[in-house]
Amino acid sequence: MNILITGGAGFIGSHVVRLFVNKYPSYKIINLDKLTYAGNLENLKDIEDRENYKFVKADICDFDAMCRLMKDEAIDGIIHLAAESHVDRSIKDPFTFARTNVMGTLSLLQAAKLYWESLPERYEGKRFYHISTDEVYGALELTHPKGIEPPFSTTASSSQHHLAYGDTFFYEDTKYQPHSPYSASKASSDHFVRAYHDTYGMPTIVTNCSNNYGPYQFPEKLIPLFINNIRHRKPLPVYGKGENVRDWLYVEDHARAIDLIFHKGKVAETYNIGGFNEWKNIDIIKVLIKTVDRVLGRGEFEDLGLITYVTDRAGHDMRYAIDSTKLQKELGWEPSLQFEEGIEKTVRWYLDNQKWMDNVTSGDYQNYYSSMYDNR
Ligand code: NAD
Ligand code: DAU
Repeated sequence: MNILITGGAGFIGSHVVRLFVNKYPSYKIINLDKLTYAGNLENLKDIEDRENYKFVKADICDFDAMCRLMKDEAIDGIIHLAAESHVDRSIKDPFTFARTNVMGTLSLLQAAKLYWESLPERYEGKRFYHISTDEVYGALELTHPKGIEPPFSTTASSSQHHLAYGDTFFYEDTKYQPHSPYSASKASSDHFVRAYHDTYGMPTIVTNCSNNYGPYQFPEKLIPLFINNIRHRKPLPVYGKGENVRDWLYVEDHARAIDLIFHKGKVAETYNIGGFNEWKNIDIIKVLIKTVDRVLGRGEFEDLGLITYVTDRAGHDMRYAIDSTKLQKELGWEPSLQFEEGIEKTVRWYLDNQKWMDNVTSGDYQNYYSSMYDNR
């Protein structure tokens, strides 16, 4: 199989590329990425010389380039992650989100359609897998926390914090109600993907995942930003009262779910991906302070004073909570890591990889890699 992974130089994409390159030596993995500020080929240093891997610098909005690539690389399957992904940026610059997330997805869909329909086998053995987010479902109400029993065999018996901050969850059939320009653009792209199945018979799949955390996440997002700020004793800007709830999943568990769904998921289906792991922002921030301080040999909670409440994010969604029972029951996926383990690994990774962080925060990685792939 020749598989096109878009956005493979970003956070989640780099984990998906690494998993596929290592696990499937007989596949050819083509990583297509525009290398925006969020794309960093340093994330893939360990696999960049592998025979079954190829990097192509291109913009998904460039329809002609997408058509050429589909044909030149004889693409059989697409895992589409390329997107503008940060909510705060979408509030300042919504057009870029509409361009990349909506028009870019449409350009890729149409390029895939034209190429696959030109083949004798047409859509037989082909797959267009679109990676979406739980944010398209809008926001859930926040009520008192109560203990819940997730459907996972490995985690249900553990001491993992299993709290739900409300009675409702996001299900696969929850109505779309996006609030931010980011989630509106992702919702729109999801609709286009489903329309290509319903109208042209393209074999599509959509998954909606909760908040990811782990190595190689761009430090504009809560967890890497705050780990870096605690390390350097900079203020931690908590939006509003820090009461908002997010549902966190270790990035490699998301990548494993993507692998499983790409190979075993049913065409035209939607799967929610999440680990039943809800946390209030302020609680997670305290866990980060405690862990960073311990790993750096500082006194317990020495850095609590860095917490700084700032103006809330406009339209800030109160609570996200994914119900991933369908994925667990139908395909047998479950998260492999307890949250405590995942956070420990994540904190240690960022503290051990200060050079990666310095390159990203200084912007050096962009000058180096972008110029390397220009004019190729
Ligand atoms: P990211 O911002 O870290 O990476 C996005 C990648 O896409 C970057 O490498 C960037 O260079 C590339 N890209 C952007 N515009 C492009 C364009 N026009 N053409 C080609 N490449 C382009 O994002 P992420 O957090 O890894 O998210 C990946 C996908 O997963 C997104 O579609 C996002 O909506 C979705 N998602 C993310 C999360 C999360 O918690 N991060 C959760 C659920 C779903
Ligand atoms: O739910 C999935 C989504 O998770 C993905 O689709 C997005 O691509 C991804 O960015 C993420 O969106 P969030 O907005 O939830 O993530 P972020 O890390 O930006 O913020 C997490 C929470 O922390 C949110 O409630 C806002 C808050 N926050 C964030 C930052 C960056 C702060 O309080 N202070 C901050 O400085």
